[in-house]
Amino acid sequence: MASFSNLPIACNDHRVSIIGGGKVGSTLAHRIAQKNLANVVLLDVVEGMPQGIALDLMQAQGLDYHNREIKGTNDYADTASSDIVVITAGIPRKPGMNRDDLIKINAKIVVEVAQKAIVHSPDALYIVVTNPLDVMTYLAWQTTGLPTNRVMGMAGVLDSARFQTFIAMELGVSVTDVRALVIGSHGDSMVPLPRYSTVGGIPITELMDAETIKRLSDRTRNGGAEIVSLMRTGGAYTAPASAACSMVEAILHNQSRVLPAAAYLQGEYGLNDIFIGVPTRLGCRGIETVIELDLTDTERAALHESAESVRQNIELAWAMLGNN
Ligand code: NAI
Ligand code: 2OP
Repeated sequence: MASFSNLPIACNDHRVSIIGGGKVGSTLAHRIAQKNLANVVLLDVVEGMPQGIALDLMQAQGLDYHNREIKGTNDYADTASSDIVVITAGIPRKPGMNRDDLIKINAKIVVEVAQKAIVHSPDALYIVVTNPLDVMTYLAWQTTGLPTNRVMGMAGVLDSARFQTFIAMELGVSVTDVRALVIGSHGDSMVPLPRYSTVGGIPITELMDAETIKRLSDRTRNGGAEIVSLMRTGGAYTAPASAACSMVEAILHNQSRVLPAAAYLQGEYGLNDIFIGVPTRLGCRGIETVIELDLTDTERAALHESAESVRQNIELAWAMLGNN
């Protein structure tokens, strides 16, 4: 009779815990496993839900050709010793809900999950996805007390991917030849940078008129809302999960990728004590470098305006949490 040892087939024991097993969290779990990046723990407050999703994802193992374990749980002990913790817990903005409502609900959730996760994974890197992104990243950093390089927010990769897609669609070129860059907060005041967006190395400012660039920039700023208004029952989750997965991969494979992320600024761009989207070098130590671009006066002013709105919302969040 043939016999097999009990050794696990996969020797790469990286663990990524995803807190929040909703649309973004569960899609991210699938993406990480499909790419064979790490074992995944999917945690949610809803009993049975993450366990059910994990079982469903495990049953796709043989079809997706990976050996990653995906565990669903309601218990933070199962997230212990994670290499990366991704926070997607919270609610997406719903019709009729104002900005203050969203901040109030999600601030409470993000502080709670960060407090619980850090106990079990004090050495992890933390990637925040919950909105309003830049504000929630700041709260997660304050709550965990981690060094700034180990906490970051995902939005710039998504916003840049949206800009990249719209540029490719407009010009009828392969999206793989398009590079796009969006900085600033993940909101109406984000700052698409046409001068740093290229097609086959050519800046789009040489390929499109100002009116077209403005139209594509506006569509990028409105990227999340456009999808919500079409879907009606929720927001985007596929591209957000792919964007978060790129960051996870850059860290686990120590790729030193140059990706925009909500990073802590200490004087860069003339900004202090704030998390906001900027280009970074991302590797196994987290944010290895904040890359400072030589912005024009107009671009810099737009970034500062964006930062001001983040700052106001951080103050609002602390006031709502009663910590001010
Ligand atoms: P969803 O509603 O499908 O999932 C959220 C999950 O969080 C739910 O399963 C819920 O039970 C769970 N949850 C709530 N409180 C929790 C707690 N205390 N502990 C653990 N789990 C908890 O929402 P979706 O679509 O997955 O979006 C999640 C968040 O990500 C939202 O805030 C959304 O706005 C944001 N988002 C951010 C993006 C970005 O670019 N940064 C892109 C897309 C979404
Ligand atoms: C998005 O941009 C709403 O942050 C979410 O799709």
